[in-house]
Amino acid sequence: MHYEEKTFDLPEMEGLSTKQIETHLKLYSGYIKNVNGLMDDINTLKQDSEKNARALSELARRFGFEWNGMRMHEYYFEALGGDGKPGGEIVNLIEDQYGSIDTWMAEFRAIAMMRGAGWAVLTLDTESGNLHSIWVNDHELGQLAGAKVLIALDVWEHAYLIDYLPAGRGDYITAFFNNLKWDVIERRLTEAQK
Ligand SMILES: [Fe+2]
Repeated sequence: MHYEEKTFDLPEMEGLSTKQIETHLKLYSGYIKNVNGLMDDINTLKQDSEKNARALSELARRFGFEWNGMRMHEYYFEALGGDGKPGGEIVNLIEDQYGSIDTWMAEFRAIAMMRGAGWAVLTLDTESGNLHSIWVNDHELGQLAGAKVLIALDVWEHAYLIDYLPAGRGDYITAFFNNLKWDVIERRLTEAQK
C-alpha cells in the first residue's frame, strides 16, 4: 500500500516564513514519492531476488533514509502552528526527569546546535518510561528502537536557510519552540503510554 502525502494546517508564523515552510514541504513531498517508488522497485526486483540481490539490498538500505525522512517531517509539521506554551502531563514528566523545563531545554538546544545534518529529538522509551533527548544523523542514524518520538526538530540547513544564515541556527530553534503545538506533543505522549 502506498503512502499518502499529508496536509498540514499551518498559519502564518513568526520566525518561520511562508516561503521557508512551502519550500520545506516540497522536500517532504519528495520523501513520499521516493518511499512509494522504492516500494514499487523492490516489488519488481524481488521477483528474482537471487539475481537482483545487490540492487535489492541497496534499495532496502535507502528505504530507511527515505521512510524516516517522510515520517520525521510529518512529526515536525504536525506540531507547528501553536503558541509555544508548554502544558499538560509532558511538562510534569520533563520536570520529574530533568528538574525543570529550562534545564531540559538547555540540553535539547545544545543537541540541536550539533553541526551536521540531522534532528534533535525528544523520545519516550515506553519500556522504562524514560525520556531521552537524542541526536539523529540524517533521518535515521541514532533513532532509538521502539522509542516514541515526542518532539522532532529538523536542523538540516534546508529547514531554516531561507529565513536565517547558517550561523542563525539558534534563532531558528527559538522560532521552532515559539510556534510549537504542545497539545500535539501531549497527544503523542498519551498515545505512547497506552
Ligand atoms: Fe527537513
